[in-house]
Amino acid sequence: MRNIKLGVNIDHIATLREGRKSKNPDPVEAARVVLNSGGDMIVMHLRHDRRHIKDSDIQNVRENVKGIIHLEMAATKEMEKAALKYRPDSVCLVPEFPDEVTTRGGLKLKSKGSEISKITKTLSEAGIEVSLFVDPEPQDIRAAHNLGADAVELCTNVYSESWGKKLQNRELEKLQLAAYLAKELKLGLHAGHGLDYYNVAPIAGIEGMDFLNIGFSIISRAVFVGLKNAVSEMKRVMQ
Ligand code: PXP
Repeated sequence: MRNIKLGVNIDHIATLREGRKSKNPDPVEAARVVLNSGGDMIVMHLRHDRRHIKDSDIQNVRENVKGIIHLEMAATKEMEKAALKYRPDSVCLVPEFPDEVTTRGGLKLKSKGSEISKITKTLSEAGIEVSLFVDPEPQDIRAAHNLGADAVELCTNVYSESWGKKLQNRELEKLQLAAYLAKELKLGLHAGHGLDYYNVAPIAGIEGMDFLNIGFSIISRAVFVGLKNAVSEMKRVMQ
C-alpha cells in the first residue's frame, strides 16, 4: 500500500454554485465531505476573475473546516496579499492567463524567476509552504530548487492528454525522471492536472510521490455517485 496523499480541488463545486449565483453547493460542506471520505487536503484556486472560488470561500473554509488547506494562485501582489490574509497551509504558484479554461502548463521559471523567488520568500517567512507548478523538465526542477521552493507540483497535463497514445510512455518517463531529480534535491513532490480514475495509477506509482492534486474528474464523478464515493474511489485507485 502506498502512502500517497490526495488533495481534492473543490473549484468546480463553486463553478456549479456560480451557475445560479446561489449559496449552494457550498464549498465548506464539500470540504467537510472530502476530508471525511479519505481526502487529505482541500485545494482551491483563487483566480483573478474570481470565476469560481471567491475570497470569502477561502476564508469560510479556513475558519470552519479542520484540515490542510492548499491555495493555488498566480504569483502576483494581489494573490500574495490574499494568501497572507487567509493563511492557507500551503500555496502552489501557477501561471494564469485571462482567457484560459484551466491552467495549461507549468511556470516559465527562466523569465519569471525574480518575482517568483520574492513571493516564495515572503510566503515561506510567513510559515506557508510553497510549491511551484512546473513541467517535468530537469531545468525547471533545478530552478524551483534554486528559487527556494519547498516542493514542486509536476504538471501531468501532457501525460493525461496522451493517455492511450504512443506518447504516453514517454511522458510517464519524463515525469519519473523529474520526480527522481526532485527527490535528489530534497523537494516535496506533488503532481496534478487532468488526472482521472483511469490514468492516475502510473502517476501514483512514481517513487517518492507525496501528493496528487485532483479536481475535475472527482467532481464530475460526484454528480453520479456522490462526493463521498467519488473521493474514496479515487483514494482506492491511487493505492
Ligand atoms: N494542480 C494545479 C496546479 C491546477 O492548476 C489544477 C487545476 O486547478 C489541478 C492540479 C487540478 O486539475 P484537474 O482539475 O484537471 O484535476
